[in-house]
Amino acid sequence: MQRLPEIVRQQPCALVRWLVHLLKVWLLRIFHIDFEDGSNNIKETGETKYVDIPRVKELPLVGTLLDLIAAGGAPHLHKYIDARHRQYGPIFRERLGGGSQYAVFVASANLMRSVFLHEGQYPQHPLPDAWTLYNQLHDCQRGLFFMEGVEWLHNRRILNRLLLNGNLNWMDVHIESCTHQLVEKWRAKTQSNVSYELPQLEQQLYRWSIEVLCCIMFGTNVLRCPKIQSILDEFTQIVHKVFEHSSRLMTFPPRLAQILRLRIWRDFERNVDEVLRQASFIIELCMRDQDDQEETLFHKLQSADVPGEMIKRIFVDLVIAAGDTTAFSSQWALYVLSTEPELQKRLAQEQLASESQLLHGLIKESLRLYPVAPFIGRYLPQDSQLGCYFIEKDTMVLLSLYTAGRDASHFEQPQRILPERWFLGKSEQVHQAHASLPFAIGQRSCIGRRVALKQLHSLLGKCANQFQMHCLNEQPVDCILRMVTVPDQQLRLSVQPRLS
Ligand code: HEM
Repeated sequence: MQRLPEIVRQQPCALVRWLVHLLKVWLLRIFHIDFEDGSNNIKETGETKYVDIPRVKELPLVGTLLDLIAAGGAPHLHKYIDARHRQYGPIFRERLGGGSQYAVFVASANLMRSVFLHEGQYPQHPLPDAWTLYNQLHDCQRGLFFMEGVEWLHNRRILNRLLLNGNLNWMDVHIESCTHQLVEKWRAKTQSNVSYELPQLEQQLYRWSIEVLCCIMFGTNVLRCPKIQSILDEFTQIVHKVFEHSSRLMTFPPRLAQILRLRIWRDFERNVDEVLRQASFIIELCMRDQDDQEETLFHKLQSADVPGEMIKRIFVDLVIAAGDTTAFSSQWALYVLSTEPELQKRLAQEQLASESQLLHGLIKESLRLYPVAPFIGRYLPQDSQLGCYFIEKDTMVLLSLYTAGRDASHFEQPQRILPERWFLGKSEQVHQAHASLPFAIGQRSCIGRRVALKQLHSLLGKCANQFQMHCLNEQPVDCILRMVTVPDQQLRLSVQPRLS
């Protein structure tokens, strides 16, 4: 606080803007004290009758902040919202974190689908404030996730063609090769009848997902270069930290942290600087060392006339988007598998045909119960009708995937792992398949879905085939939110060669 006058001298406008914002929020709170009971009233707009969306009770000044803190804060947001849905139903409004804007939370399969039908031509999703601020301050042009409007649609169409549609065998070769190396490394450490605990599992899976992306982008050849290998070691560490730093700024306004030059902002800023610098360096090295004969995303983007600078922007964000999501989805799937010895046996007996329904069902179950992105957001571009509810233009709608995936009206015995529920002809155990949307749907859904699913199939298939897996954690493992859902304790898995 002693440094405040200096900051006022440096950035008076930003500080004043922030204070005005704070004052506005407080005034809103003081003069619109609202203790609605959440009951469903009917409202008429023109010809149509709508049902009121229940609004969460809040206190003057602090809103619902104390409730969230009592529930464990941001790391437990998915559980906090889950409890709200139980209280208010499949749709409700809440002003989270003391802000002035409402978010509408939605957890029913039909309403979620309706959101995607109303997302418009250029779907807009909420971006982490810390990242938007960083991009603004550093005048930084970013990849697909941060793009908007025509620029987004143009690049998205190109990437849809290259990463989601048509024959993608060229990509599978790279994924298989990287996964084979990882599993062989583990196998080499095991001896019959002796369990081997996989060390630094999180780091290893992180590294694997980044290697897969580099190979898809530039071919397997680049991984043979010792210099690239050592830079990837370092890069894995720092990309991994980005999520730690970003998640700290989820519980503190980034703008304020930046104005006050707090350590959480400085760490985040330094870390992102480093990630972007190293990613750029890796791309330059890879471009030099790639084999022109290999089929790669880089060549395909060049053939589609995407300029070099844009390729860099796209690649950096693909790596950042892939790192955490794939590493943690794989951790969750390995965890689920390790707790199901019978399932492991059945998978091994199947000899793992690549089309194994059982493996497919296991991965669907793990993504249903542990969606790494537990909320998907959309700003609706115009006034819309979702079921019998009216949603105003520009409202932020958040889909509560964690709740939807565990709802008994969507899935029979939702807490149980039942891969068979996804088999053809078993629809009685899945009442609403659209309640599990780990990659979202619609135009702005995950561009890496095909890559991630192939990775998961390849890793889980190889592990089930070769190992008996055990979970060594003594306490039950639960999930917390750290930008993505992660285990609440370090996951300890062991492998030993499968004998039968
Ligand atoms: C199991 C792993 C993954 C999960 C669960 C996942 C989930 C998601 C979800 C839910 C979205 C939509 C966000 C929104 O609509 O607001 C998304 C977007 C995105 N994902 Fe993934 N993802 C995974 C892996 C990957 C991989 C491997 C890549 C890179 C190859 C990737 C790249 C992206 C990008 C660039 C976007 C933004 C797309 C756009 O804005 O058009 N993801 N992901």
